[in-house]
Amino acid sequence: MSTAGPARSLNELRAEDGAARNKARYTKGQPSWFLAIEGPTGAGKSTLVRRLSRWLDVQLMFDPFEANPFLSMPYTGDQGDSMRGLDLATELTFLALRITQLREIDTRLKAGSAVLADWALLKQSIFAGLTLGAVGRQRMVRTCAVWCRGLPDPDLLIYLRAGSTTLRERITRRRRAIEAGVSDEHLKRLIDEYDCEMARYSRSVLTVDADRLDVFDDRSVEAVVERIRLRLPPSPVGTSRG
Ligand SMILES: Nc1ncnc2c1ncn2[C@@H]1O[C@H](COP(=O)(O)OP(=O)(O)OP(=O)(O)O)[C@@H](O)[C@H]1O
Ligand SMILES: [Mg+2]
Repeated sequence: MSTAGPARSLNELRAEDGAARNKARYTKGQPSWFLAIEGPTGAGKSTLVRRLSRWLDVQLMFDPFEANPFLSMPYTGDQGDSMRGLDLATELTFLALRITQLREIDTRLKAGSAVLADWALLKQSIFAGLTLGAVGRQRMVRTCAVWCRGLPDPDLLIYLRAGSTTLRERITRRRRAIEAGVSDEHLKRLIDEYDCEMARYSRSVLTVDADRLDVFDDRSVEAVVERIRLRLPPSPVGTSRG
């Protein structure tokens, strides 16, 4: 089985209407930034989002993954045969939950609030590739492009890049039952998939080395805040709480 046409990334499909959409948002006097953090499971996205909120005047949005009733084995990298039929349902339910949240983010941006999320849509493509294979991934990319048309993309994506040792340590520390069976092979594949997807991402990206980031140290987080500010276009929206 093959997909129609060459494989295209979600970013490429989204780029077609994205630039005009964001420009319209700013020129209408709604220059509220949409920031998102991405990276593999356990890299520290949610933790960094919470820490950054001390310095950035942003509304926080968290990946609604726990609301997915289909969430199970595919995300541990251990796919028993009995679970395969659920993979598509899992991915499509994630998409529905994330579209719902993107609509909420869109509403908040239009109301003038800046938003910081601990996820971005590109993870749909990455995880669909892991659970559904290359053909399923392409279908997911095209489905995302259809359903998310008109919804905002991050003005700046913060890529929290971590090695497998770091991921393993952090996943072990938080002790989520569902992650008990995550293999090193799965973590390495996830890291590779993130690296590939980020290499193809053409919008604004700030890469942060999660292996070296001491997220509980104020100075380290302040340094990330400085790097974020340098990457954002000038905005009349205040981003400092001191
Ligand atoms: N820079 C860091 N140094 C040490 N520990 C960290 C760091 N960042 C996060 N942690 C710890 O690692 C664990 C995982 O972090 P977190 O839940 O933020 O990851 P995540 O990227 O949001 O994961 P997921 O993709 O599953 O949502 C938590 O216990 C957190 O306290
Ligand atoms: Mg998280």
